[in-house]
Amino acid sequence: MPAVIIVGAQWGDEGKAKVIDLLAERDHYIVRYQGGCNAGHTVVRDGETFKFHLIPSGILYSDKTCIIGPGTVISPEVLEAELQNLAEKKIAMGRLCISPRAHLTLPYHIALDGAKEDSLGEGKIGTTRRGIGPTYEDKVGRIGLRVGDLLLSEEILRSRIQVIADQKNPVLTKAFQLPPIDVEAIMSLCEQYRRIMAPFITDTDEILAQAVEQGENVLLEGAQGTMLDLDHGTYPFVTSSNPTAGGACTGSGLGPKAISRVIGVAKAYTTRVGSGPFPTELFDQAGSHLATVGAEFGTTTGRARRCGWFDAVAMKYSARINGLDGLAITKLDVFDGLEELRLCTGYRNKQTDEVVHSFPSHIEVLEHMEPIYESFPGWQGSVRDVRKFADLPIEAQNFLNRLSQIINVPLSIISVGPERDQTILIEDILPSPKGTSCLVS
Ligand code: GDP
Ligand code: IMO
Ligand code: MG
Repeated sequence: MPAVIIVGAQWGDEGKAKVIDLLAERDHYIVRYQGGCNAGHTVVRDGETFKFHLIPSGILYSDKTCIIGPGTVISPEVLEAELQNLAEKKIAMGRLCISPRAHLTLPYHIALDGAKEDSLGEGKIGTTRRGIGPTYEDKVGRIGLRVGDLLLSEEILRSRIQVIADQKNPVLTKAFQLPPIDVEAIMSLCEQYRRIMAPFITDTDEILAQAVEQGENVLLEGAQGTMLDLDHGTYPFVTSSNPTAGGACTGSGLGPKAISRVIGVAKAYTTRVGSGPFPTELFDQAGSHLATVGAEFGTTTGRARRCGWFDAVAMKYSARINGLDGLAITKLDVFDGLEELRLCTGYRNKQTDEVVHSFPSHIEVLEHMEPIYESFPGWQGSVRDVRKFADLPIEAQNFLNRLSQIINVPLSIISVGPERDQTILIEDILPSPKGTSCLVS
């Protein structure tokens, strides 16, 4: 079975794109299955940095098929800018296919995202203000516009937009004092979108089904992370889609039997952008070391990421929700030079003094939890040039082994720098096309 899910196991920005770019070398299909341009995925290739919001991170290989799947929401303006950027950099990009089932983010979604956030004041979610929540709201409310709708006749499209305007205009104007939807303005926008997107719209479900039947390798690229999942994350401080492994099936159109492995990507510490509880968050010198050395600024919004120690309670929960087979631990090099490292192995409820090892379903409970830590000595010198697990400082090996032991999931990949080759491959995640192994021994 050839499909591997690469899922963010924390609160996003775990380094998913680096892992995808690395593994994509031996894959033929790379699929974004949920989210939209709220994602910011960074690939560093030969010293050059590429940031992707919608286009799958495998696009830098000219012989791959990259799919934006049915579970995504697409802002055509952002897509166009990404395509232009690749063209300007003269990148011979792979084949791009966009599902007609994906939903479109329109200007009124973006306006609503901002207005809703502003109305929440102090209690705001801290969204990326890219219109993601309102686009998914319309999808669930069955008044969304889909990519394939751009190919409908003018008459049908106009009548669809009219229905949307009739339902949404009272909300836009009365509840949020926003301008109403102008049907003709959206019609001409759709014409513009058609020009951008038409060359890429194709039945991606069919392409993937055939790929799986022929035994081709497929990588399913998660955006955001498990703790931002609409159903399983720290609700309501979550995104509006399902980044978790289950979402990879609904969002790509592949059935669960096509999935061979699920790899969870996590930093050796934790970061979070936006509001919401974060038990291991640091406000001390160690926190500023992680933020500064880790260059923890959002790829999409440029906001400073909140930083803290690795939370094994949240990770154990993440491993269960996703059914993780392996861990890809990134940014180990950021620990270089730290005297002490910490791992959160349990929570103590500050109100009741009760100790728990499971992740609470409600943030009102999570907010009362303080971390219980195990402490580890750090190391001096750099791990960036290490390519074998056994060559890591013994302190790093001990930290990683304990982390894996607590979560009860084996280590598959250790990332020691942003570049493709700054990687320790412990386990051969993908079946090799020629039966050879890419394992670094
Ligand atoms: P994603 O959203 O999960 O793809 O992650 P982002 O691209 O938003 O953020 C991860 C950042 O860490 C990017 O700037 C990467 O280039 C960088 N990165 C990835 N792996 C490593 C690593 O092992 N070490 C260091 N120092 N940086 C890394
Ligand atoms: P990648 O794919 C980190 C966060 C926002 C906010 C919450 C809801 O790069 O890991 P939204 O705009 O989705 O409605 O915002 O989710 N968020 C992310 N945080 N990485 C991301 O994507 C994120 N996408 C959304 O900061 O807290
Ligand atoms: Mg990111």
